[in-house]
Amino acid sequence: MLAAGHKATAHPRALQTICSRADAFGRPAPGRRVGTRTEPAREAAYTACVNDDDVPSGIDLRLPHVAHAWTAEADVKRPYRADARALIAERVAVHGARRVLELGGGPGLLAEAIVARQPVDYTLLDFSEPMLALSRQRNPGITCVLRDFLDPAWPDGLGTFDAIVTMQAVHELRHKRRAQLLYTQAHAVLAAGGLVVVADHEPPETRVRARDLHATADEQHGYLGGAGYRDVETIATFGTLYVIAARATR
Ligand SMILES: C[S@@+](CC[C@H](N)C(=O)[O-])C[C@H]1O[C@@H](n2cnc3c(N)ncnc32)[C@H](O)[C@@H]1O
Repeated sequence: MLAAGHKATAHPRALQTICSRADAFGRPAPGRRVGTRTEPAREAAYTACVNDDDVPSGIDLRLPHVAHAWTAEADVKRPYRADARALIAERVAVHGARRVLELGGGPGLLAEAIVARQPVDYTLLDFSEPMLALSRQRNPGITCVLRDFLDPAWPDGLGTFDAIVTMQAVHELRHKRRAQLLYTQAHAVLAAGGLVVVADHEPPETRVRARDLHATADEQHGYLGGAGYRDVETIATFGTLYVIAARATR
């Protein structure tokens, strides 16, 4: 375990060692690229991934049977998810977005709602190949990218987007303290005035360490504002799910 206050050094090998330890909660890190970049911003991102207080996930969504079971149950457990998807699709359409990126898009249910509303050039990023396979089946026309959004290089080569959306995925950062960094990275690939829509859960009272894992809507407003977005607004809540929209400042 790393000592409190430990800082990553600039040495690539040291960073590699530290970042592989960041997965000590048992999650393998296929494709995670570490150890070759030494720019200050990337170093800061590496440092942010080094922490002992991550909240481990009880399930590995990269296993085919887990991805399939999650997909089969998600809307049954939370029927209001469909309403949230319809609202997000409407926002994206009203914004006039033509290029849309989804982070942690999983089986492509939100992609389906957005693409059905209007034709868009859609990129869905996820670190689970079985999830991407489900998404491709549901949305043959979209681009699916196998990538880990804990990798500081996740935005590389994706292009520029008019809108970035994410639903029930930000808590997969495994600690809410990483949310602002994710939004800063997203800001860099948003066009001027671009739209971001974040939907996730208020911390469930019943879960251990839920307040470390899940940001409240108010906390999300702070992270988005801190990452340089304006017009941050909770546009709806569905059960415990909040939907927040904001605009890129550039
Ligand atoms: C709870 S599911 C939500 C899926 C989808 N957004 C939905 O609401 O239907 C979370 C998704 O995030 C993906 N995910 C988890 N950790 C990730 C990471 N570090 N990088 C990229 N995707 C990740 C999972 O594979 C899964 O598809």
